[in-house]
Amino acid sequence: MAHRSSRFDLGTRLLSWWYNQKNKIIKNIHVQDFLARFPITSRIARKEGEAIFQLMTGFVDTQILFTFVKSGALRHLESGSLSIEELSDKIGIDVKKTEILCRAGYALGLVRLKSKRIFLARRGALILSLPGMMELIDHHSILYEDLLDPISFFRGEKETKLSKFWPYVFGKAKSLDSADVSRYSDLMSKSQFMVARDTIASIKVSKGTKWLDVGGGSGAFAKELVNKHPSIKISVFDIPGSNADNQSHKFIPGSFFTDKIPLGFDTVSCIRVLYDHDDQTVSDLLFKIHSSLSTGGRIIVSEPMLGELSPNKWGDTYFATYTYAMKTGKTRSPSQVSDLLEKNGFSRVKVFPSRRPFVTTVIEAYKN
Ligand SMILES: C[S@@+](CC[C@H](N)C(=O)[O-])C[C@H]1O[C@@H](n2cnc3c(N)ncnc32)[C@H](O)[C@@H]1O
Repeated sequence: MAHRSSRFDLGTRLLSWWYNQKNKIIKNIHVQDFLARFPITSRIARKEGEAIFQLMTGFVDTQILFTFVKSGALRHLESGSLSIEELSDKIGIDVKKTEILCRAGYALGLVRLKSKRIFLARRGALILSLPGMMELIDHHSILYEDLLDPISFFRGEKETKLSKFWPYVFGKAKSLDSADVSRYSDLMSKSQFMVARDTIASIKVSKGTKWLDVGGGSGAFAKELVNKHPSIKISVFDIPGSNADNQSHKFIPGSFFTDKIPLGFDTVSCIRVLYDHDDQTVSDLLFKIHSSLSTGGRIIVSEPMLGELSPNKWGDTYFATYTYAMKTGKTRSPSQVSDLLEKNGFSRVKVFPSRRPFVTTVIEAYKN
């Protein structure tokens, strides 16, 4: 053991020596000037410069995007091009400032500006067409407010607004009032479309499977699954009040904090459920799901995850910060989720290659 730790210390010391030497060279202005003379190294230097600029200005980009959504500018352009004056009139921002906004939107690929008219660009059209995207962008104002003082945010010194937005997690609520329900379930069910598509495309679904979607909310995933596989018998288990009316699936009200997971299902799914909760809650839930399944039963976990081999922008930057702001949540890597599954009795854990890791990563495991 002593031998292993001294090898580790030497390795760490070598690594930190290497980083120190490398950074000394990179910081040297004469070296920078010298490297700028060669095509490959000057390209690397320019890319690094652009990346630093992008890091510094990213907040401005999100606010431009937010203004296009919140002012209704994107919607107004949906049915055809407008002059700057016409758009200015519709969004209530004066002509000169609308022009500034439109040039910024042009640079971000949201609109195009030609012959003094503004057209919706491909990115703008996609934002309008992807279900839930406009609502997702809109609800980020809460996270932006929480991040206004990032130092105290990361020190955990103040209560976050996002932890209030998602009341069912924070309060371990047994039931929800209708205002809370409409506040989050609409956003969740609209944004479920892409998650459901990627999840269903990753896994095998056998005919006639009896399926339980734990934390299935308004049943958006259930609906997509039945559309694609009409023979599936699907039930949704969620806290009372979270389910929309007139659904074709069966709704089983209950809380996984206090109730047992219903019996009699071949597959149990947790779609965007685990990352709302701390490790102990997730462990308890997985244990309950494992106990509810018969031998051969399967669990599907699908949600955005951290990068496995190295951190990535969506998991480690965005979702990890978001779930941290929720206070009770935690974004995990595929191997962290796999470990929790194995610790709670599951085996044959399989992580599917993700089509769009910023939407979801899917993991399957079985009870042996
Ligand atoms: C982030 S939402 C995801 C909803 C849906 N699966 C989706 O992806 O759109 C988390 C869901 O877990 C449900 N949930 C939270 N705590 C719960 C509990 N204790 N028992 C059952 N469901 C719970 C919430 O009501 C909510 O519908």
